[in-house]
Amino acid sequence: MIDIHNHILPSVDDGAEDIDESIKMAKFYLKSGISRIIATPHYIEGAWNSTKVENQKALEKLKISLDENKLDLEIYLGNEIYITMDILNYIEKGIVSTLNDSRYILIEFPMLDIPLYTENIIYKLLLKGYIPIIAHPERCSRIIENPNILYNFLMKGALAQLNLSSLVGGYGVKIKTTAEILLKYRMIHFVSTDIHSKDDNFAEIESSLNILKNIVDGETFNNITYLNPSKVIEDIGIENYNPIKYQKRTKPSIFSLFFKTV
Ligand SMILES: [Fe+2]
Repeated sequence: MIDIHNHILPSVDDGAEDIDESIKMAKFYLKSGISRIIATPHYIEGAWNSTKVENQKALEKLKISLDENKLDLEIYLGNEIYITMDILNYIEKGIVSTLNDSRYILIEFPMLDIPLYTENIIYKLLLKGYIPIIAHPERCSRIIENPNILYNFLMKGALAQLNLSSLVGGYGVKIKTTAEILLKYRMIHFVSTDIHSKDDNFAEIESSLNILKNIVDGETFNNITYLNPSKVIEDIGIENYNPIKYQKRTKPSIFSLFFKTV
C-alpha cells in the first residue's frame, strides 16, 4: 500500500508533535509493510497554515532523521487543503503543495456541510489542469445523507479518498456504512490512513485492508491501495471507473405486497 494522506510531518499541524513522534510513526509504517507515503499537513486558513516552504523544511529535517535511524521510508510532500474559494490562488502562489507537485490536489470538506461554491471550485481546478481528490467523503454529513452528492462531483472529474479506519468503525456505524456504500458504488479511488499520531492505531491498517478485500474485487483493491497512489506520485492520469449512482434499497411496503401497480 502507498499512503497518500497522513500527518507525519513534525510540528506543522495537529499531527506529529515533534521529530521523535514522526520517527515512531515511520517505524509503524515500515512494520506495516508501507514504504512510500505522501505527507499531507493541513492547510486551513487561520488555523493550520504552514506554507509549502515551511513544510519542505520540516520534511528535510525528517529525512535527515530517517537516514540517521536507517529507516527506509520514502516521503513526498503534499497538503490536505480545507476547501475555500482561494484554493487556486494558494496553489499558484506556491503557498500550498499539490501531491508531490503533481496535478492531484487533496481537498477537505467541512464535516457538517459542503459549501455552495464547491462545484464551481472543482470546475475551475479541472480547467487549470488540476484534479481534486476529495478527502474522506464518508465522514461528511451531507454525503452520509446522500452519497450521490459525491457521485455528482465525481461525474465532473473529481476523485475520492476513503479513510481506512472508517471501515473498522473508527468513526461510528453511519460512517462505516457510508464507506461501504461508496466502495460498492465505485466512488472511491484511494484508501489512506489519515494518521495523526504515534498513538493512532496502526494495527487497524491490516484489519481494515482485510475488510476492504471483502467489499471490492481484486483489481479494484490493487488500484485503490497501490496503483492509483503510485500514479499520483508519478503524475500519471487515473481512470474514473464509471461510478454508479446510489439507489437506496427501500423495503417493500405492506400494500405493495398485495397490490401490483401497472
Ligand atoms: Fe487528514
